[in-house]
Amino acid sequence: MALARNPLVGLVGWRGMVGSVLMERMRAEGDFALIEPMFFSASNPGGTLPAAVAGLAKTDTTLHDAHDVAKLARCDVVITCQGGEYTKAVYPKLRAAGWKGYWIDAAKTLRMQDDAVIILDPVNMPVIQSALAKGVRDYIGGNCTVSCMLMGVGALFKADLVEWMTATTYQAASGGGAAHMRELLTQFGTLNAAVRPLLDDPASAILEIDRQVAATQRGLSAAETKNFMVPLAGSLIPWIDADRGDGTSLEEWKGGAEANKILGRGPGFGAPAVPVDSICVRVGAMRCHSQALTFKLKKDVPLADLEAMIRNDNPWVSYVPNTREATVRGLTPVAVTGTPQIAVGRLRKMALGPQYVGAYTIGDQLLWGAAEPLRRMLRILLEQ
Ligand code: HSE
Repeated sequence: MALARNPLVGLVGWRGMVGSVLMERMRAEGDFALIEPMFFSASNPGGTLPAAVAGLAKTDTTLHDAHDVAKLARCDVVITCQGGEYTKAVYPKLRAAGWKGYWIDAAKTLRMQDDAVIILDPVNMPVIQSALAKGVRDYIGGNCTVSCMLMGVGALFKADLVEWMTATTYQAASGGGAAHMRELLTQFGTLNAAVRPLLDDPASAILEIDRQVAATQRGLSAAETKNFMVPLAGSLIPWIDADRGDGTSLEEWKGGAEANKILGRGPGFGAPAVPVDSICVRVGAMRCHSQALTFKLKKDVPLADLEAMIRNDNPWVSYVPNTREATVRGLTPVAVTGTPQIAVGRLRKMALGPQYVGAYTIGDQLLWGAAEPLRRMLRILLEQ
């Protein structure tokens, strides 16, 4: 169903971290000129639109109640970054009330439902188009790790070259949320403060500094580790999200399940799933998720061809030549953060055999991993 001109688009959760990045991107791309936004709030319904967004609404001046189903039902499209609990509470009521609009959601709640599509249009535009033609109305952003990986190396899957893939991830604090980023930085500060006098003294012993850092890490209070449960600064945590009870984490399960669903493979689709397995690790980066990938290809393909496929797949791939100099400059979270680029590098054949290929990808998990697919889905709806 094509949308009317200037459709009413309800925005929920637009003040949180992902929502704020979404708002920035929508402003930068001129999306607000094409819609009539209706700003919803869970915390201040009835309030006046904050100055930061007042100019974006053409006629509306009020914050609407994010739990008011009748108000939400007026929207042609609802975009929510409010989180999974909100989706669980509101989405079923809205559909039960007969709402036929488009629901675009950053949360994982609806991702794996049969009648929902995981949106990542540079990778799965055909899946999205076919769903639109069938009248599907739920379009859900994917897990950030999966989306960033597929934006980088989706070309190899699209060409049906991948027999299987494994990933070891290096996921940033932002994947947990804003409070997690603050906690990481606070911990770094605490560690630095603990050894500052020793650092300032060039004659101090490094093993004494190390001992004091370890003692400080182990001595961090419950308040200082409230979000990650354990120290992250100067450490890492090789478990992300829930324990599935079978030796895997939920984040690892998502890697395989969501990657295949995005690609239109696996149960319910005409093609078999590609085995994708991971070990997901939290590291002390701010907002870029990095991943070391191992592919077994279905056949031996020359490295130059693989490089060309990856380079040419989409305009956001930033290919980093597999040299020390290029890698340390271009293939780091610091180089990529805040940009829409997905860096792909360390591409090489592995000693395991000619069909085995290694690669490394890095993406900003708040951009391609969260906000960008949502606003692009809105554009797809507008351009139908
Ligand atoms: N689950 C991801 C993480 C966040 O914790 O890094 C977004 O998908």
